[in-house]
Amino acid sequence: MTDQILVDWDDNNALLWGHQPLLINHNLHRSPLFSRQALAELIEAYPREHYNLIQTGPRETRRVWREGDFGGLSGLQIIDAIDNGTLWLNLRNVTKVDRRYREVVQQLFSEINGHVPGFGAPEHTAGILISSPKAQVYYHADLPGQGLIQIMGSKRVYLYPTTPPFLTPEHLEDIALFGVEVDMPFESWYDRHAQVYDFKPGQMLHWPLNAPHRVENLDTVNISMTISYTDEQIRRLQMLNFTNGLLRHKFGYRAKSRAISGPSYFAKRVIQRALRNGAWLSKERTRRQSVDFKLDDTKIGSIVDLPKTADAA
Ligand SMILES: [Fe+2]
Repeated sequence: MTDQILVDWDDNNALLWGHQPLLINHNLHRSPLFSRQALAELIEAYPREHYNLIQTGPRETRRVWREGDFGGLSGLQIIDAIDNGTLWLNLRNVTKVDRRYREVVQQLFSEINGHVPGFGAPEHTAGILISSPKAQVYYHADLPGQGLIQIMGSKRVYLYPTTPPFLTPEHLEDIALFGVEVDMPFESWYDRHAQVYDFKPGQMLHWPLNAPHRVENLDTVNISMTISYTDEQIRRLQMLNFTNGLLRHKFGYRAKSRAISGPSYFAKRVIQRALRNGAWLSKERTRRQSVDFKLDDTKIGSIVDLPKTADAA
């Protein structure tokens, strides 16, 4: 690995950053931190509260999206299970969990700031995604700024416009309010309006804020890293979406303003602070999220259903 993570930077990227999807070259796929062995060790030490193990349907099948646990498998067995299943492991907050990855991601953000005037030093985090050859990530949008870094295998990434019908304020409000990103309606004809990338190791994608996207793995196990960042503007938009969503769902009031400064914004900030920890919201969030399987330690690649809790039913 050379000293720089981003390589062959094109100066036009600085003008396009945040406005258009950008494909950028990096060399993290050569780092020993992302070898199978290093990742197996990382998985074994990973705190439960920081990972999601998801079962998705293979392509062309009905939609499945369920949360699970590792069971008693070793790190290498978990990677084998991902090789053989339709699973998707998200090691969230790797920058918080492990100092070595934190330093790499910190360097990446410093390099972006060196290349993109005004990018600054936003609060950021990163996660490592390990996913099965036929796994997919359904159509969704994320509230923070996002980039995807390909380490191993290849995947097809579809990026959609940030305008209706692909993305509406109500979608963003529901994501901010309920914390669930995968409930957005999708139609197959949306693909005609997508920018599509066959994404390879050594490439990084960055897209405009909130751009809806979906991902299909191309028959190889995939290792990727997501980066995610929040600056003052993004933070204000999240607050606005949360409060507009709350006013709509709980009080039936459709807020017209999407301002992130001025009296209407500050009034919403007061509402958000008063209501963000309410019982209604925590019940609604629990209803939308549950853990309902674990990996089978007798048959690698299979899963075992966990009994439904009353709350999750
Ligand atoms: Fe995403």
